Parts: sequence; C-alpha cells; structure tokens
Amino acid sequence: MKTLLDLITIEMRAAFRAAGYDEELAKVTLSNRPDLCEYQCNGAMAGAKAYKKAPFMIAEDVVAHLSDSGCFESAEVVKPGFINLKLDPSFVSDYLNEMAADAKLGVEEEKNPRTIIIDYGGPNVAKPLHVGHLRSAIIGESVKRITRFKGNRVIGDIHLGDWGYQMGLIITELKKRKPELPYFDESFEGEYPEEAPFTIGELEEIYPTASAYAKEHEDYREEALHATYLLQSGYRGYRAIWKHIMHVSVTDLKKNYEKLNVEFDLWKGEADAQQYIPDMVQRLKDEGYAHYDNGALVVDVQEETDNKEVPPCMILKSDGAALYDTTDLATLVQREQDYHPDEVIYVVDKRQELHFIQVFRCAKKTGIVGEDTKLTFLGFGTMNGKDGKPFKTREGGVMRLENLIREIDEEMYKKIMDNRMVEETEAKQTAETVGLAAIKYGDLSNQASKDYIFDVDRFTSFEGNTGPYILYTIVRIKSILNKYQENGGSLEGLKILPAVDVYEKALMLQVLKFNDVIDTVYEETAPHKICAYIYELANEFNKFYHETKILSEEDETKKSGYIALLALAKRVLETCIDLLGFEAPERM
Ligand code: ARG
Repeated sequence: MKTLLDLITIEMRAAFRAAGYDEELAKVTLSNRPDLCEYQCNGAMAGAKAYKKAPFMIAEDVVAHLSDSGCFESAEVVKPGFINLKLDPSFVSDYLNEMAADAKLGVEEEKNPRTIIIDYGGPNVAKPLHVGHLRSAIIGESVKRITRFKGNRVIGDIHLGDWGYQMGLIITELKKRKPELPYFDESFEGEYPEEAPFTIGELEEIYPTASAYAKEHEDYREEALHATYLLQSGYRGYRAIWKHIMHVSVTDLKKNYEKLNVEFDLWKGEADAQQYIPDMVQRLKDEGYAHYDNGALVVDVQEETDNKEVPPCMILKSDGAALYDTTDLATLVQREQDYHPDEVIYVVDKRQELHFIQVFRCAKKTGIVGEDTKLTFLGFGTMNGKDGKPFKTREGGVMRLENLIREIDEEMYKKIMDNRMVEETEAKQTAETVGLAAIKYGDLSNQASKDYIFDVDRFTSFEGNTGPYILYTIVRIKSILNKYQENGGSLEGLKILPAVDVYEKALMLQVLKFNDVIDTVYEETAPHKICAYIYELANEFNKFYHETKILSEEDETKKSGYIALLALAKRVLETCIDLLGFEAPERM
C-alpha cells in the first residue's frame, strides 16, 4: 500500500504538470504549522526563479488544478506562495479502512528481500551479564524485528565471547581447587564425566576470583594464558571442561534472554570460527595480503583518504595466537559460506568502532566478503547513571543485569499495586511485563549512538514519554473495546467513518503515518523513531478520549466508527511495541 505522503505527492505532481510546471517541484511535507494545515507544498517558491514568476501566481495555477482531487478538503495559497493542504475526511477514512484490511497495516515488504545477519547480544560466557550487554540485546532485537517485518530473511546471531582468556582462567582456578579431576590427568584416556564439576553459581564466583588473583600473581596469569593456548590447540581435557562451561552458561544465558524477550536464531560464538582460521590465514599469506610486522601477522588497512591513522588488522600474535580481529574475520568466512548475506549488522558498543573499521576493510580488501556485501556497524552509546557516569550499583560496583531488572520490577510492582486495577496474584507477572517495557522503551527512545541516563524513576512513570505510559494507553483502549463487546457490540466488519471533529481527525492523521514511519525507521535503522511516533499517537488518542463520549455515544453508527478507529490504533500500537520487543498486559 502506498504511503499517504506518496499518494498526495502523486496528486500534486499531476496538478503541477497540468498547470504547465515541472512536476519535480511538487514535494509535499508534513505541515510545520499544524494549526493552519496538515500538509504543505513549497514547490511554487522553488519554481519562481526558473519560471520568472511570482510564487503566489504559480501556486494559484497549481491549486486551480486540484479542484477535482479527491484527496483534499482544502488547498489554500498563502503568501508568498505556500500551498496549505487539508485532507478530505472521507479520503482519510478510506485510507484507514484499507490499512485495517491489510495484514501488515499498509507496510510494503521489500520487493527484493535481502539476507541480513544481525550480530548482537555478544555476552562473554562465564562472566555475568552486565548492563553493557543490555543495550546490544535490546537494540539488536528491535533491529532484527524491524528488518524482518519488511520481508527480509533475517538471522540473529548472539556471537558468544566463548574463546578467550576467561576460559583459561577458569580452567586454572578449577585445577587449583580440584586437582584430582580427570581433566588434569594427562594419562587419562577414559570418558570424562557427563556432569559439570561446578554449578552456574560456582562458575560465576570462579571467574572473578581467578581474574583478580591473576592480576596479583604473575605465575598464575602465565598458567592461565598457557591453559588458554592448550584449549585453543585442542587439548582433550580442557576441551571437555570448556564444553561444561559452555553448557552451564548457555543454559543460564538462555533463561536471561528469554526474560528480556530476546531470541536468537543462532547461538554461535568465537569458538565456532576457530576451524576457519588456518585456511584463512594461509590464503591471506599466499595471496600477499598479510605480512609480518615485529613477529605479528598483519594486514594493512590504512587508506589514502584517512586523516587519522588506522592501524593494521592483527591476524596472528607473535606466539601464533588468534585475536579478536581474527575471530571476527573467520566468522565472516563462516557466514559467507553458510548464508551468503547481503548485509551483516553489528550492534556493539561504539567504543569498538575502530576494531570494526579494521575488520570491514580487511574483509573487503581480501575478498572474504564480496564488494556488494554491506557491513554495518551500529555502535551504541553508554548507559549512564544519574551522575552521568557509567551505570553502577549503589555500592559503586558493576551492576548485574538481573539486579537491574529486579529493581525495576519491584518499582513497577509498587506502582501497579497502588493503582488497584490488578489482583495481587496477577500483579507480579504484570510488573514484569511493564518493567520490561520501561527498560526497553527507556533505552530505545534514545538514538542508539548517543549516551543516555538510565533513570529508574522516570522510566517507570505512567506519565510522560515512557514505556508504561504507552502500555497504559493500550490497556485503556483494550478496556473500551472489551466493554463495547460486553455490551453486545461486535468488532467484526466495523468501518471507520469520516472524522467529525478535530480530535478525531488528529488521531486519524497520526494513525495513518504508520507505514511511512516504519519505512523511515527501516531505512535509517532508527528504532527511536518508532518511540517518537507512538508517543505522539498515544497523546493524540488520550486527547481524543478525553474530548469524546465513546461508549456513551447514542448514535450507534457513529459509535461503531469510533470503535473501528480505536481497534486500528490499538493494532498499530501493538505492532510498534512488538517491533520494539515488548508487549502490553490486559490490565495494569
Ligand atoms: N563479546 C564482545 C564484548 O563483550 C562483543 C562481541 C561483539 N560482536 C562481534 N562480532 N565482535 O565486547
């Protein structure tokens, strides 16, 4: 379905053409004076020079050709030559009814769907999830849903950090505590136990202990590095421990992401890229892309137009170990082989930008991906506390994700109990649903690349530009629709009728922007524009609600028209929050 802006632009182009002017002038935009008109066209101003004519006259000529247009209620020329447009109410209601009949509410799918991999989440196995991983999960999940909604084949990959030094640390600490385990017996040839020698709770304690100890004790650190090396070279006992670590952690991670309503199609990680490294390195050497520099194998990626130094991409350390650059490149080899993606989008902290510049350049230059493969870095800013510094616990430690979520849920629970709309038994579940919306909306309503302040009080408020306010609005609409049905009304076959007043029309004009907004959000990878849109939509609905007798309207036809409009507004809001990655409760 064409967007409304497209439809009226076509109409204006025809009028420019018919009046003898270049139709390229007929650009229509949303009005920046909503008190005067709904849309506007400034083409007559732009054409004045070329036609050596006063813009006012050009505008008059154009408007004369709009008289039988079905789109406009009025097209008015104002000095010096603007055309102010108001949409015809039945044109608007027809458009909305068409939208309501469409499964995707008027959003067109890509004519040529693309294969897109979204690399997001990126937690490090065996280290607790912290708030830094929250943004990647929230933004990535939303981008995945948006690109998928537009009809692409989208694959979300968590890309676990599961192959680094932390694994060596855990192995070393385990050896210190339980040296009798068969994993440490070099002569052991039997089957290793199926059960892990630790629980998730122990694992979470082992890593920080080992990490702190290694900082103080050089020999321990050396041992952990060596254990990492042995693991990476395939040493059997350490491989077996690694599998236990993976199993225990991934089970726990899955639980955590499920709570966040974040779902990955692939649970691959750095370790999976390992098998592609030897051949890739060999090829880079053979084809002359890689060279040794102080013992390390590197690929130069500096370009002439750079005004800053871009250091070479590091392929192997002087001891032959693979690095972060290496696993990301090998992962691209793997992705290319398995999925041949048109685009890979990385949702990662913006402080890693240089790493991705290096990797992208190296991958293109060496042909790991083709020239047409789009590699996109979606870098996000830091989540700060009210003091403007990276978010911390009250004690000043790194805030763990589960604790943050618990804090929000408790706050929501209090508010929901105060509201007295929900039974205590239901309130806990509702608090989780609303709490998630508070967190996700709080995050997504900011442009991803910007730092933002995580403000628990503001994010959990039922008023203002917040997740709970949006949900509250949806719940309000649901309750009206339920009452309408309880009173014997049916939601089947209802038609939206031409607006009768400014409040209803304003709500309609906001609803019908949906497909236009989604297209922009998709093109710009900008979920925050969905938030801005639904905030305005919720405001327009609430104004309408306060000004209109809906259920007590006596004219049944009129009432059914209102209900049809509310049902559509609800679908639009629900689709939007689904694209943001959360949902609304029945009551709150
Ligand atoms: N595990 C990494 C970290 O915590 C993020 C991974 C991002 N994705 C990637 N392909 N490098 O910093």
